[in-house]
Amino acid sequence: MRKICVVGTGYVGLVSGAGLADFGNEVICTDIDQGKIDMLNKGEIPIYEPGLKELVDRTMTSGRLSFTADVESAVRQAEVIFIAVGTPMGDNGEADLRAVEAVASTIAQNLNAYKIICTKSTVPVGTGARLEKLITAECESKAEFDIVSNPEFLREGSAVKDFLNPDRVILGTSSQRAESVMRDVYRPLFINETPMVITNVPSAEMIKYASNAFLAVKISFINEVANLADKVGADVHTIARAMGLDGRISSKFLHPGPGYGGSCFPKDTEALVHTGDQHGVQFQVVQAAIAANKAQRSIILDKVKELLPELSGKVIAVLGLAFKANTDDVRDTPAFEIIQGLNRAGAVVRAYDPIAAENMKQYFFPDLDTRSSVDDAVQGADLVIILTEWNELRGLGLEALKHRMKSPNIVDARNILSVDQLKELGFNYRNVGRSGV
Ligand SMILES: NC(=O)c1ccc[n+]([C@@H]2O[C@H](COP(=O)([O-])OP(=O)(O)OC[C@H]3O[C@@H](n4cnc5c(N)ncnc54)[C@H](O)[C@@H]3O)[C@@H](O)[C@H]2O)c1
Repeated sequence: MRKICVVGTGYVGLVSGAGLADFGNEVICTDIDQGKIDMLNKGEIPIYEPGLKELVDRTMTSGRLSFTADVESAVRQAEVIFIAVGTPMGDNGEADLRAVEAVASTIAQNLNAYKIICTKSTVPVGTGARLEKLITAECESKAEFDIVSNPEFLREGSAVKDFLNPDRVILGTSSQRAESVMRDVYRPLFINETPMVITNVPSAEMIKYASNAFLAVKISFINEVANLADKVGADVHTIARAMGLDGRISSKFLHPGPGYGGSCFPKDTEALVHTGDQHGVQFQVVQAAIAANKAQRSIILDKVKELLPELSGKVIAVLGLAFKANTDDVRDTPAFEIIQGLNRAGAVVRAYDPIAAENMKQYFFPDLDTRSSVDDAVQGADLVIILTEWNELRGLGLEALKHRMKSPNIVDARNILSVDQLKELGFNYRNVGRSGV
């Protein structure tokens, strides 16, 4: 059991902190957001993530997980400090490392004994070396420390499961001492033979970006295949399934839709291109994936316009606002550009999301007309557009929906509805790449 401090108690920090406590470690999660810490200390979870409340409750009750807004004290008490603060996109596409560096300075000023400083935030290659310099320069105590890169691969919506049963754990370090402590931190995963990749810091930092960029490329690729399928009367689902049966390709991340969003792929692809530029390496494939992803939003809007060429004054029910199902996260959600496009065309937008509506209002559209049920959102609508693959929307009763709507127009941007049923009920519909069904 190790004494751990996790700095940054957001999607990654909170899940990681609770997960590391579940592995038997003693964990203090800390954050500069006092409101968030107050909520957590009252047993409330600031984000929506399946299974997280149970995990936090269990580890708090066991006495292994606690929360404080006193970052300095949490750092001083820990042997291993995980940095899990945000690294949003900067002005030129680069990762904004200001929060990471602020935490590094706090660590330098509170380095009262040997500590391992472990980046869980997604940071560009070279950041470990940069933090080492910064901490060495700012640390008066001259206590020893080691840098470890331990990128996180959890997916929002299944973050708890992903953290507790990861496909692999990446540990980048050049220190034997740090490696042996980190093996102890992740002991239950070593015991159950989770694959561990132990490498140097730059390789670990690159693994995260290379993985995310590759997945983004896969999504943009299948979206372009879908766009062609639409033109030529083919079915992208059959194509993707057949492609996925080839073990070299795999069926994962071959789902067409409105393009990737969320807090990772958009910024991580841009950051990788930026890092490449700094080193004279062009990531042409990733650049193309980024461009295709941006275009995919417009392609979905075009489908709306195919069904309703004159949008001005038309009531459009937008079902699903989160960037994917099972999360309340709306960062870089496709719904943002699509609602913006509908607003520009003069449409009257009504939105429904089971979880993310408040966040959409808070961060993007304070005046968005959000409804508390699908029925309410679609009543009298001229068109319904599905933007998130929530299970609730998969199970939409199409017959009742048709009765509630003014005109039976549907754009299913997630391909979750039965084409046969849409046809049978006489809907005018568009989906992504299924014109051949
Ligand atoms: N969200 C994901 O699915 C995911 C998955 C893998 C990796 N990541 C990476 O993990 C990192 C964190 O992402 P997130 O989604 O958890 O971010 P987040 O915005 O949800 O959480 C970041 C937290 O850090 C806190 N913070 C900021 N500055 C701080 C400081 N100086 N001291 C203490 N706390 C501070 C913020 O108040 C916030 O609570 C990013 O680098 C991201 O790319 C995210």
